[in-house]
Amino acid sequence: MKITVVGVGAVGATCADNIARKELATELVLLDIKEGLAEGKAQDMMQTAALLGFDTRISGSTNDYSKTAGSSVVVITSGIPRKPGMSREELIGTNAGIVKNVSTNILKHSPNAIIIVISNPMDTMTYLALQATGLPKNRVIGMGGTLDSSRFKYQLSQHLGCSPADLNALVIGGHGDKTMIPLIRHATWNSAPVSQFLSEEQQQKIVADTMVGGATLTKLIGTSAWYAPGASGAALVEAIVRDEKKLFTCCVSLDGEYGQKDICIGVPVIIGKNGWEKIIPFELNEAEQTAFNNSADAVRKMNDVLKTL
Ligand code: LAC
Repeated sequence: MKITVVGVGAVGATCADNIARKELATELVLLDIKEGLAEGKAQDMMQTAALLGFDTRISGSTNDYSKTAGSSVVVITSGIPRKPGMSREELIGTNAGIVKNVSTNILKHSPNAIIIVISNPMDTMTYLALQATGLPKNRVIGMGGTLDSSRFKYQLSQHLGCSPADLNALVIGGHGDKTMIPLIRHATWNSAPVSQFLSEEQQQKIVADTMVGGATLTKLIGTSAWYAPGASGAALVEAIVRDEKKLFTCCVSLDGEYGQKDICIGVPVIIGKNGWEKIIPFELNEAEQTAFNNSADAVRKMNDVLKTL
């Protein structure tokens, strides 16, 4: 199994590091446009192999896509990250050209690849990658909701004093500070609804803090976060290569599901060897469906910007 990570800034490198530690691939290729960066990070990671005991062969390439040939899964993290105070949406002008170029180059050398998109604005970049490659929709997956759901579980765990791993909680909708929808009504601690343990105010705070999870870190760190985004990408790679049939929120192309079409946005899906294999129809109440429709409107507006670039 060969896996490629394109863009080895902090998110891409962390994703690759997770992939290597979990031995998800026999061969892992890092590719970046910056001269020597991918080669250097590949060597640095390979020099952990003896210490960590993994057998994945990691190599790096400066923009030579022939080195990525025959990859089964490709993670795209390319593009600029946000700076404090910036929204993910402000990155579209720069990142759209990059993601279009990367995804078409990938396809030339790995026609059977499943593509995971992490670059921001993630919903629009997923839509763009799907259009640019013409791949079957199940093979293009946007990572955002997986990350947002993990951040949601973190926030819940802080208030409940519990292990994040004991929680079931999903964030659907767009991967934007104002467009994501933490589904707190559906969240459970093992199987008990979290509302049994949390006041209305606590629940509102958890939802609000989850929505600005990325922005909070950007402010603290000075650039976009990478540990959880990288681990989220690797979790999706793992679900694909191990054919886990795990449920994640991912940004996928809708064709009437959740009342939307001609859009890529976050919904619960099953991830397995074929990419996203099935959309799971959660029952939304009126307020949740309205929030989802508003989120879709905002994402669609961002997609329209692609036509003007
Ligand atoms: C974040 C970026 C990766 O949410 O979108 O941290």
